[in-house]
Amino acid sequence: MSRENWTSSIGFILASAGSAIGLGNIWKFPYVAGQNGGGSFVLVYVLCVLLIGLPVMCSEMLIGRHTRRNVINAMGKVEHIANGSPVRFALSVLAAGMAVAFTLMEAWLMVGVALFAVWAFARRGFAAIGWVCTAVALAILSYYAVVGGWIVEYIWRAVTGGLAAHVPGAELSAEASQIAVESGKSFGAYIGDPWRVLIGFVVFMALTGAVILGGIRSGIERVSKILMPALFVLLLIVIVRSVTMPGAWEGVVFLLKPTSAGFTPKVVLMALGQAFFSLSLGMAITVTYGSYLHKDQNILRAAGWVGVLDTLAALLGGLAIFPAVFAVGLKPSSGPGLIFGALPATFAEMWGGAIWATCFFVMLLIAAVTSSASLLECGATVFIERFRRGHKRGSRRTAVLTGFVICTIMGLLTVFSTADWSHLPWLERGVRACMGSLTQGSWFDTLDNFASYWCLPFTALAITLLVGWVWTPRRAAPELLATGEGDTFPRWILLAWGLLVRWVAPIAIILVFLNSTGFLSL
Ligand code: PFF
Repeated sequence: MSRENWTSSIGFILASAGSAIGLGNIWKFPYVAGQNGGGSFVLVYVLCVLLIGLPVMCSEMLIGRHTRRNVINAMGKVEHIANGSPVRFALSVLAAGMAVAFTLMEAWLMVGVALFAVWAFARRGFAAIGWVCTAVALAILSYYAVVGGWIVEYIWRAVTGGLAAHVPGAELSAEASQIAVESGKSFGAYIGDPWRVLIGFVVFMALTGAVILGGIRSGIERVSKILMPALFVLLLIVIVRSVTMPGAWEGVVFLLKPTSAGFTPKVVLMALGQAFFSLSLGMAITVTYGSYLHKDQNILRAAGWVGVLDTLAALLGGLAIFPAVFAVGLKPSSGPGLIFGALPATFAEMWGGAIWATCFFVMLLIAAVTSSASLLECGATVFIERFRRGHKRGSRRTAVLTGFVICTIMGLLTVFSTADWSHLPWLERGVRACMGSLTQGSWFDTLDNFASYWCLPFTALAITLLVGWVWTPRRAAPELLATGEGDTFPRWILLAWGLLVRWVAPIAIILVFLNSTGFLSL
């Protein structure tokens, strides 16, 4: 069986944007921005996307298209092109540094993993990074699907009239504040009921599996083409309502105006992690998608479009949420439940609110499924191509099922830990013993924190080292410039990409790491 290809450049861009745009933009970006000071975070975030995210994205697409393999073989092959041993050594040293940092945090499980990585990088080089990427993708899917399940619940509520509605004659601002407080409480009660959360989670995982079993072209591409524009239109409609609520302007200012006190190393780490998460980088998704890309499709343009669309979606997500947050008096730093307090209040104040709410949550669900499908796709491609029987590739169905089962089991942990640890005291103690001071709140927060702010920057760093120092921008340039007829690029773009991927991105990531491990105080 030959590998499938994207039918068109636009199909590839939309599918990559489909992977990038999801809960990370509409659910995560607003609450992380809210916890990290608003405007300053947003500015640092945009810089991270431009200076680090986009060069890494081009690099991942390049690795994928050049090798046309799953992430593990792809990394190994690129390393083979050049003699990568000094960089292998650097990777092992980095992993050893991580082991020391985790020891200081008493995260013993991670110390073990890091020590194993020292050995694996020395022996297997970048192919071992491919395994890390795959594991991170599946780990992220396990809690991403739980949030996806929350969206399923909110669709159900919107359809069955379970969301608060406007009471004719009530004063807008007082009513909206009341609804926001109640919605926040009802969200808390909902995630405290693990069996109910479980239903949404299972529905979401089933949807994800179904999209992937349809194959890339028929499944993801078709859905993405219809969805993206619709989601943007709906976001604009919600923004119009949100910014016209009394007191909403403060929210716009909060989101867009940086404050000098807001630029701290922690904000940079959060923005960097969020940029990777949101652009689906460091998880081999883009390598996998790039491996289905035709030789004549233009990588720079594709990466540019995906970056612009994803950042736009995040900013629109922020603009839809923060004005309402301020108008109804919610705390911007209230965490993962932020949108589930603000959005119901906004919809309640819209004419035909339940219909808008249904449409919005359905769009968000589809956006989330296109993202989660890309996570599962990456695991499935690895299983299909790595676990062959003789010359036969593994079956797609078995591969999807394997990823599905792994994520579901891990997801159960998330579902139950988010609800309440108290009836699982052994689990809480176990996680604390394994993760030390990396533990943050529930297993959900711990895993999100570890995956987004530790694993993704690490794997992205490895990718910049691979492309910037092993393959080198000079040797990779012909692949980058291989485009359809008549497409040319100014030389400075190539130079800028080389500079960013070889120097700026790795140095910035290493500095952020050194700071967050406490080895350097910025
Ligand atoms: N980028 C997606 C989002 O912002 O929702 C989430 C995601 C998808 C993260 C795929 C990672 C990934 F590999």
